[in-house]
Amino acid sequence: MNDRVALVTGAGGEMGHLLIPALRRDGYAVVALDLVELPDELRQQCSETLVASILDVDAVEDLVRRHRPGLVFHLAAVLSSKAEIDPNLAHNVNVTGTFELFRILREMSSDVPPRFIFPSSIAVYGLPDAETKKRQGAVEENEWNVPSGIYGCNKLYCELIGTYLARTRPGGGAPAIDFRAIRFPGLISAATLPTGGTTDYAPMMIHAAARGESYSCFVREDTRLPFMTMPDAIDALRLLAGACSSDLSTRVYNIRGFAASATEICERVLRHFPEAKIEFESIPARQAIADSWPEDVNDARARRDWGLDPEHDFDAAVDEYLVPALRRRYGTQDQRAAGSRGPRRCASPPDSSPGLS
Ligand code: SER
Repeated sequence: MNDRVALVTGAGGEMGHLLIPALRRDGYAVVALDLVELPDELRQQCSETLVASILDVDAVEDLVRRHRPGLVFHLAAVLSSKAEIDPNLAHNVNVTGTFELFRILREMSSDVPPRFIFPSSIAVYGLPDAETKKRQGAVEENEWNVPSGIYGCNKLYCELIGTYLARTRPGGGAPAIDFRAIRFPGLISAATLPTGGTTDYAPMMIHAAARGESYSCFVREDTRLPFMTMPDAIDALRLLAGACSSDLSTRVYNIRGFAASATEICERVLRHFPEAKIEFESIPARQAIADSWPEDVNDARARRDWGLDPEHDFDAAVDEYLVPALRRRYGTQDQRAAGSRGPRRCASPPDSSPGLS
């Protein structure tokens, strides 16, 4: 294995946009794979980019064999809301794609197993109802591992297989993969917008407000979930990738920056963008997914084992990271200085409609 080469799958997604430059700064040669061509500014930072599906096993195998990456960030995935609409695609990409990548890496003989960094999700948790969710508060890694959605099932299975492969080699011998997973909360980036996820309402609400557009939030006001900013998520990936195996008390870690309800996010957004038009119109299928996820997670193990220390709590995420970056991006002025009306209440329309999209 080449320990200065990092393979990034799903490289053109939200994480890839910040992870690839960070890996370059860390001195890695980055080999990137995505379904579509990467934007020029990302492509220029990679030593090779391959436009292919994670399910194109021959192409992936050829790429891996030529570069022999010592570090793998397997970011390619179909997120939770899209997975419910197309479970076959979700299974193929999230499970088969991951399993094939494990196989390709296992079959390459190496004294030092590659580090395989796997973005898992709060979707692996399944709380049965709102009352239990509230009573439970912050969940620990080994609690409520009974996902109610396809995406959570996919991620939990891959966590289990990865943990197994970090412990043993099928057929005997030393473990062939140094598997490490992070269960990400909802991620919010100022640089990109997500697609196909359930936590997407938070970034969409903030971006829409900064662009001066109205937004209809697809979960109820009281929906509370854990979140983190994308820069903190990228730091967490790099910290876990660099941790000594002997410091890891588990192969799967919770992380979080803060927990907030949709209405708290709305109110915070309105402080900065008082003219923003934000409505709440819960979409049952997406609401059901959000209701089954915990309102917060306990990240004590990640803090203790590999020094997780996010920079952004809720205040810092919005006030210091998102709002300044989004004002620069969209060119929106600070309306509060112009003697505007002050914070408005977040509004609910009378009816809600079914469906996922
Ligand atoms: N952000 C992901 C989703 O909503 C969860 O990890 O699907």
